[in-house]
Amino acid sequence: MAVIAIQDLRWGDTGKGKISEYLSHPDLCGSSVRSGGGGNAGHVVQRGTRKIALHLLPAGCLHEGVDIVLGRGMVTHLPTLLNEIGEVRAKFDTDPLKYLILSPENHILFHGHKEVDRMLEKRKGNDAVGTTGSGIGPAYADKANRIGMRMESLRHSPAVLKDGYGKLAKHWKDSYGVHLDDRQAAEDIDTLLLSKELLEGRLHDMTEYWRRTLMQIAKGKKRDIVLEGAQGSLLSIDAEGYPYVTSSATTVAGQLQGAGLPTRELTDVVGTLKAYDTRVGNGPMLTELSPEESAKLRDLGGERGSTTGRNRRTGWLDLKDTERRAFEEGVTQLAVLKGDILDSYSEIPLSIGTTNGKPDYATFPGWSGSIRGMRRWEDLPKEAKDMYQFMGDFTKVPLRFIGTGPESSELIVRA
Ligand code: IMP
Repeated sequence: MAVIAIQDLRWGDTGKGKISEYLSHPDLCGSSVRSGGGGNAGHVVQRGTRKIALHLLPAGCLHEGVDIVLGRGMVTHLPTLLNEIGEVRAKFDTDPLKYLILSPENHILFHGHKEVDRMLEKRKGNDAVGTTGSGIGPAYADKANRIGMRMESLRHSPAVLKDGYGKLAKHWKDSYGVHLDDRQAAEDIDTLLLSKELLEGRLHDMTEYWRRTLMQIAKGKKRDIVLEGAQGSLLSIDAEGYPYVTSSATTVAGQLQGAGLPTRELTDVVGTLKAYDTRVGNGPMLTELSPEESAKLRDLGGERGSTTGRNRRTGWLDLKDTERRAFEEGVTQLAVLKGDILDSYSEIPLSIGTTNGKPDYATFPGWSGSIRGMRRWEDLPKEAKDMYQFMGDFTKVPLRFIGTGPESSELIVRA
């Protein structure tokens, strides 16, 4: 492996942070990359008593010696980034700032974008997308309208920065009627000036960074590049489920574009899914459970958004659709997470097609006992092995990772 993309094949929240943490260990990884989205993403890393919810930084930030790349496809809320750097420093004895490689083309997301997001959602009424309220759509809209502010602005003088911010605030007011009060505007400007101080020196020419890194990998002097996808294939702006999607291309192709990496350098794609489906926000969900059953699975799986705290909707795994995503994303290895949550179920349905728009289920018998914490494929009960093997066979992708609990170490890695 050399350039690995981790791609969530569902609506996000499949537990890809665990795979990212494993693959981003300094023994394996030299560059840990986030290339799209913003603070709408979130995954919790649990290592012993230390726990952190990461929204912007990729999992490699928890290790010394791994480059932390924030690519051009992102929209970054600076206070969130600075807080996250501080929290990692305090809890994990490493300083991500030291390893940060920031793309000058990465867009800055301001408080005003969040206000516009909330206002647009409210205006949509029953047609609301159910966004995370993180300002993602409006930040990408400013980018597409070519009025956004990018990280490269941090090279400008404080006066030019303030002027640029003033123009944006006027645009939010004129276009959307969103007026920031003086305190909010002053906070935004203060953060911009602080970020200039802290982050300007972390801006890199990304073409040269990738050229150098790929050359070093080829000579065996540097470890893998690991792209940590955000959200999931079903939330991509071009996905079938539009308009109930996010505003960026949350696909493998989008990850490469957002990182600025030459596409032909990609060597592997790890596709992640859970043993069941979840979704936050609005939009159709084929296998959604009844409210009572959904609440049971939600409680067992702790299925609440790590960004918004919203309850996630739950359903059985739509394996047929997962197979389509695995094909579309060019997945070479499968990672199935959270099977241990189904320990107490006597039957586990997997949707393998539809009749008249309703799911057709293949039902697998559950197992007795718990698979929680197992670390070897051989130790899994036969019923669990059969279910996992079916998932791999159906999607036509070798099964490499099986998550067996929230702890980083609770993972089966097959050769
Ligand atoms: P936005 O990205 O905040 O605009 O939200 C658009 C849709 O994507 C909503 O349904 C959100 O709930 C969903 N979404 C955005 N980010 C994530 C994520 O990281 N995990 C799961 N759902 C997400």
